[in-house]
Amino acid sequence: MATKRKYLIAGNWKMNKTAPDGVELIEGILNEIGSQSEVGVAVCPPFTALESAAKALADTNTITLGAQNMHPEPDGAYTGEVSAAMLRTLYVGFVILGHSERRQYFAESDAFINQKVIAALENNLKPILCVGETIEDREAGKTLEVVETQLKGGLVNVDKKQAEQIVIAYEPVWAIGTGKTATPEMAQEVHAAIRKMLTDIFGSDIADKIRILYGGSMKPGNAAELLAEKDIDGGLIGGASLEAKSFGKLVEAALAQTKADG
Ligand code: 13P
Repeated sequence: MATKRKYLIAGNWKMNKTAPDGVELIEGILNEIGSQSEVGVAVCPPFTALESAAKALADTNTITLGAQNMHPEPDGAYTGEVSAAMLRTLYVGFVILGHSERRQYFAESDAFINQKVIAALENNLKPILCVGETIEDREAGKTLEVVETQLKGGLVNVDKKQAEQIVIAYEPVWAIGTGKTATPEMAQEVHAAIRKMLTDIFGSDIADKIRILYGGSMKPGNAAELLAEKDIDGGLIGGASLEAKSFGKLVEAALAQTKADG
Protein backbone atom coordinates (compact mmCIF):
# COMPACT_ATOMS: atom_id res chain seq x y z
CA MET A 1 0.00 0.00 0.00
CA ALA A 2 3.04 2.25 0.17
CA THR A 3 2.58 5.67 -1.32
CA LYS A 4 5.80 6.97 -2.82
CA ARG A 5 4.49 10.50 -3.05
CA LYS A 6 4.85 13.07 -0.27
CA TYR A 7 1.44 13.71 1.27
CA LEU A 8 -0.01 17.19 0.92
CA ILE A 9 -2.54 18.54 3.40
CA ALA A 10 -3.95 21.77 1.97
CA GLY A 11 -6.49 24.03 3.65
CA ASN A 12 -8.92 25.88 1.39
CA TRP A 13 -10.24 28.67 3.59
CA LYS A 14 -12.74 29.77 0.90
CA MET A 15 -14.35 33.13 1.77
CA ASN A 16 -13.42 32.94 5.45
CA LYS A 17 -10.93 34.80 7.68
CA THR A 18 -9.96 38.44 7.62
CA ALA A 19 -6.24 39.18 7.43
CA PRO A 20 -5.76 39.34 11.24
CA ASP A 21 -7.90 36.22 11.78
CA GLY A 22 -5.79 34.45 9.18
CA VAL A 23 -2.56 35.31 10.98
CA GLU A 24 -4.03 33.96 14.20
CA LEU A 25 -5.02 30.72 12.49
CA ILE A 26 -1.55 30.31 10.94
CA GLU A 27 0.10 30.87 14.31
CA GLY A 28 -2.21 28.27 15.80
CA ILE A 29 -1.42 25.76 13.04
CA LEU A 30 2.34 26.29 13.40
CA ASN A 31 1.91 25.65 17.09
CA GLU A 32 0.04 22.41 16.42
CA ILE A 33 2.30 20.93 13.75
CA GLY A 34 5.77 22.05 14.86
CA SER A 35 8.52 21.97 12.26
CA GLN A 36 8.08 18.61 10.50
CA SER A 37 8.92 18.38 6.80
CA GLU A 38 7.77 14.85 5.92
CA VAL A 39 4.27 16.01 5.01
CA GLY A 40 3.62 18.97 2.72
CA VAL A 41 1.28 21.52 4.29
CA ALA A 42 -0.41 24.42 2.51
CA VAL A 43 -2.97 27.04 3.44
CA CYS A 44 -5.02 28.93 0.86
CA PRO A 45 -6.44 32.13 2.39
CA PRO A 46 -8.55 34.65 0.49
CA PHE A 47 -6.53 37.20 -1.55
CA THR A 48 -6.92 39.89 1.14
CA ALA A 49 -5.18 37.71 3.73
CA LEU A 50 -2.27 36.54 1.54
CA GLU A 51 0.20 39.31 2.31
CA SER A 52 -0.18 39.10 6.08
CA ALA A 53 -0.11 35.30 5.83
CA ALA A 54 3.14 35.49 3.84
CA LYS A 55 4.65 37.64 6.60
CA ALA A 56 3.45 35.22 9.28
CA LEU A 57 5.18 32.41 7.35
CA ALA A 58 8.38 34.29 6.55
CA ASP A 59 10.51 32.41 9.08
CA THR A 60 9.30 28.91 8.31
CA ASN A 61 9.28 26.39 5.46
CA THR A 62 6.69 24.22 7.15
CA ILE A 63 3.68 25.73 5.43
CA THR A 64 3.40 26.82 1.80
CA LEU A 65 0.99 29.54 0.83
CA GLY A 66 -1.66 28.94 -1.81
CA ALA A 67 -4.27 31.10 -3.51
CA GLN A 68 -7.82 30.06 -4.38
CA ASN A 69 -8.00 31.35 -7.93
CA MET A 70 -6.25 33.56 -10.49
CA HIS A 71 -6.82 35.04 -13.95
CA PRO A 72 -4.85 33.61 -16.90
CA GLU A 73 -3.82 36.96 -18.41
CA PRO A 74 -0.62 38.59 -17.12
CA ASP A 75 -2.25 42.01 -16.65
CA GLY A 76 -4.89 44.27 -18.19
CA ALA A 77 -8.50 45.36 -17.95
CA TYR A 78 -9.95 42.51 -15.86
CA THR A 79 -11.64 44.30 -12.98
CA GLY A 80 -11.61 42.33 -9.78
CA GLU A 81 -9.08 39.76 -10.97
CA VAL A 82 -5.57 38.83 -9.86
CA SER A 83 -2.68 37.54 -12.03
CA ALA A 84 -0.13 34.78 -11.45
CA ALA A 85 2.70 37.34 -11.15
CA MET A 86 0.78 39.21 -8.45
CA LEU A 87 0.51 36.00 -6.47
CA ARG A 88 4.20 35.19 -6.95
CA THR A 89 5.23 38.48 -5.35
CA LEU A 90 3.39 37.33 -2.20
CA TYR A 91 5.40 34.07 -2.07
CA VAL A 92 2.41 32.01 -3.15
CA GLY A 93 3.40 28.48 -4.23
CA PHE A 94 0.08 26.80 -5.04
CA VAL A 95 -3.10 27.98 -6.71
CA ILE A 96 -6.43 26.14 -6.56
CA LEU A 97 -7.99 26.10 -10.04
CA GLY A 98 -11.36 24.85 -11.22
CA HIS A 99 -12.88 24.42 -7.79
CA SER A 100 -16.49 23.24 -8.14
CA GLU A 101 -17.69 26.46 -6.48
CA ARG A 102 -15.97 28.45 -9.26
CA ARG A 103 -17.44 26.14 -11.89
CA GLN A 104 -20.91 26.41 -10.35
CA TYR A 105 -21.18 30.06 -9.25
CA PHE A 106 -18.84 31.71 -11.75
CA ALA A 107 -19.51 29.49 -14.76
CA GLU A 108 -15.86 28.56 -15.27
CA SER A 109 -15.39 26.22 -18.22
CA ASP A 110 -12.73 23.57 -18.71
CA ALA A 111 -11.19 25.71 -21.47
CA PHE A 112 -10.88 28.75 -19.18
CA ILE A 113 -9.52 26.63 -16.34
CA ASN A 114 -7.01 25.18 -18.81
CA GLN A 115 -5.74 28.69 -19.65
CA LYS A 116 -5.23 29.28 -15.94
CA VAL A 117 -3.34 25.99 -15.50
CA ILE A 118 -0.97 26.94 -18.32
CA ALA A 119 -0.46 30.48 -16.96
CA ALA A 120 0.16 29.17 -13.43
CA LEU A 121 2.83 26.74 -14.64
CA GLU A 122 4.51 29.45 -16.73
CA ASN A 123 4.79 31.50 -13.55
CA ASN A 124 6.12 28.71 -11.33
CA LEU A 125 2.88 28.30 -9.45
CA LYS A 126 1.75 24.74 -8.77
CA PRO A 127 -1.88 24.33 -9.84
CA ILE A 128 -4.23 22.30 -7.65
CA LEU A 129 -6.69 21.32 -10.38
CA CYS A 130 -10.06 20.31 -8.93
CA VAL A 131 -12.36 17.79 -10.57
CA GLY A 132 -15.48 16.03 -9.32
CA GLU A 133 -18.98 14.90 -10.12
CA THR A 134 -22.35 16.11 -8.83
CA ILE A 135 -24.81 13.75 -7.20
CA GLU A 136 -26.83 13.68 -10.44
CA ASP A 137 -23.70 12.64 -12.37
CA ARG A 138 -22.97 9.88 -9.87
CA GLU A 139 -26.52 8.56 -9.85
CA ALA A 140 -26.50 8.52 -13.65
CA GLY A 141 -23.31 6.43 -13.59
CA LYS A 142 -21.34 9.26 -15.18
CA THR A 143 -18.72 9.90 -12.48
CA LEU A 144 -15.67 8.79 -14.44
CA GLU A 145 -16.89 10.37 -17.66
CA VAL A 146 -17.34 13.76 -15.95
CA VAL A 147 -14.02 13.53 -14.14
CA GLU A 148 -12.23 12.56 -17.37
CA THR A 149 -13.72 15.50 -19.28
CA GLN A 150 -12.69 17.94 -16.54
CA LEU A 151 -9.23 16.41 -16.13
CA LYS A 152 -8.37 16.21 -19.84
CA GLY A 153 -9.98 19.60 -20.49
CA GLY A 154 -7.92 21.20 -17.73
CA LEU A 155 -4.66 19.67 -18.92
CA VAL A 156 -4.72 20.45 -22.65
CA ASN A 157 -1.25 21.45 -23.90
CA VAL A 158 0.42 20.98 -20.54
CA ASP A 159 4.09 20.29 -21.18
CA LYS A 160 5.20 16.87 -19.92
CA LYS A 161 8.18 18.51 -18.26
CA GLN A 162 5.90 20.65 -16.11
CA ALA A 163 3.26 18.03 -15.39
CA GLU A 164 4.88 16.82 -12.16
CA GLN A 165 4.23 20.26 -10.65
CA ILE A 166 0.50 19.73 -10.92
CA VAL A 167 -1.63 18.49 -8.05
CA ILE A 168 -5.09 17.06 -8.76
CA ALA A 169 -7.89 17.29 -6.22
CA TYR A 170 -10.81 14.89 -6.55
CA GLU A 171 -13.72 16.60 -4.87
CA PRO A 172 -17.11 14.94 -5.32
CA VAL A 173 -19.44 17.95 -5.28
CA TRP A 174 -22.02 16.11 -3.15
CA ALA A 175 -19.41 15.65 -0.40
CA ILE A 176 -18.33 19.29 -0.15
CA GLY A 177 -19.51 20.98 3.04
CA THR A 178 -22.27 18.41 3.45
CA GLY A 179 -20.72 16.12 6.05
CA LYS A 180 -21.10 13.30 3.50
CA THR A 181 -17.73 11.78 2.68
CA ALA A 182 -16.99 9.37 -0.11
CA THR A 183 -16.08 6.04 1.47
CA PRO A 184 -12.36 5.26 1.16
CA GLU A 185 -13.22 2.61 -1.45
CA MET A 186 -15.34 5.01 -3.51
CA ALA A 187 -12.62 7.64 -3.40
CA GLN A 188 -9.83 5.17 -4.20
CA GLU A 189 -11.75 3.89 -7.22
CA VAL A 190 -11.89 7.40 -8.72
CA HIS A 191 -8.31 8.24 -7.69
CA ALA A 192 -7.05 5.08 -9.40
CA ALA A 193 -9.04 6.01 -12.52
CA ILE A 194 -7.54 9.51 -12.45
CA ARG A 195 -4.04 7.99 -12.14
CA LYS A 196 -4.79 5.87 -15.21
CA MET A 197 -6.01 8.95 -17.14
CA LEU A 198 -2.82 10.79 -16.15
CA THR A 199 -0.83 7.78 -17.37
CA ASP A 200 -2.61 7.99 -20.73
CA ILE A 201 -1.72 11.67 -21.01
CA PHE A 202 1.79 11.87 -19.54
CA GLY A 203 3.06 8.29 -19.20
CA SER A 204 3.40 6.27 -16.01
CA ASP A 205 6.68 7.78 -14.73
CA ILE A 206 5.06 11.19 -14.47
CA ALA A 207 1.60 9.96 -13.46
CA ASP A 208 3.16 8.07 -10.55
CA LYS A 209 4.61 11.33 -9.24
CA ILE A 210 1.49 13.50 -9.47
CA ARG A 211 -0.32 13.90 -6.17
CA ILE A 212 -4.06 13.29 -6.15
CA LEU A 213 -5.79 14.82 -3.12
CA TYR A 214 -9.23 13.95 -1.82
CA GLY A 215 -11.59 16.77 -0.85
CA GLY A 216 -15.10 16.72 0.59
CA SER A 217 -15.86 16.71 4.31
CA MET A 218 -12.41 15.37 5.20
CA LYS A 219 -11.90 15.68 8.94
CA PRO A 220 -9.87 14.13 11.75
CA GLY A 221 -12.42 11.31 12.16
CA ASN A 222 -12.18 10.02 8.58
CA ALA A 223 -8.74 11.16 7.36
CA ALA A 224 -6.71 8.11 8.42
CA GLU A 225 -8.78 5.63 6.43
CA LEU A 226 -8.88 7.86 3.35
CA LEU A 227 -5.12 8.52 3.44
CA ALA A 228 -4.43 4.79 3.81
CA GLU A 229 -5.72 4.25 0.25
CA LYS A 230 -3.00 3.71 -2.34
CA ASP A 231 -3.83 6.59 -4.65
CA ILE A 232 -4.96 9.17 -2.07
CA ASP A 233 -1.98 11.45 -1.56
CA GLY A 234 -3.46 14.02 0.80
CA GLY A 235 -6.45 16.24 1.25
CA LEU A 236 -7.93 19.55 0.16
CA ILE A 237 -9.86 20.60 3.20
CA GLY A 238 -12.49 23.27 3.67
CA GLY A 239 -14.36 23.35 6.99
CA ALA A 240 -11.82 21.41 9.05
CA SER A 241 -8.99 23.71 7.88
CA LEU A 242 -10.52 26.75 9.62
CA GLU A 243 -9.53 25.59 13.06
CA ALA A 244 -5.90 24.97 14.07
CA LYS A 245 -6.57 21.84 16.13
CA SER A 246 -8.55 19.96 13.50
CA PHE A 247 -6.18 20.98 10.70
CA GLY A 248 -3.22 19.94 12.88
CA LYS A 249 -4.85 16.53 13.38
CA LEU A 250 -5.09 16.05 9.61
CA VAL A 251 -1.37 16.76 9.26
CA GLU A 252 -0.77 14.25 12.08
CA ALA A 253 -2.83 11.64 10.24
CA ALA A 254 -0.74 12.14 7.09
CA LEU A 255 2.44 11.91 9.14
CA ALA A 256 1.26 8.65 10.72
CA GLN A 257 0.44 7.25 7.27
CA THR A 258 3.86 8.33 5.95
CA LYS A 259 5.49 6.35 8.77
CA ALA A 260 3.18 3.37 8.16
CA ASP A 261 4.09 3.42 4.44
CA GLY A 262 7.77 3.29 5.45
P1 13P B 1 -15.22 20.78 3.01
O1 13P B 1 -13.99 20.15 3.63
O2 13P B 1 -15.78 21.90 3.84
O3 13P B 1 -16.24 19.75 2.64
O4 13P B 1 -14.74 21.47 1.65
C1 13P B 1 -14.00 20.74 0.73
C2 13P B 1 -13.51 21.66 -0.33
O5 13P B 1 -14.28 22.15 -1.14
C3 13P B 1 -12.08 21.97 -0.35
O6 13P B 1 -11.73 22.65 -1.50
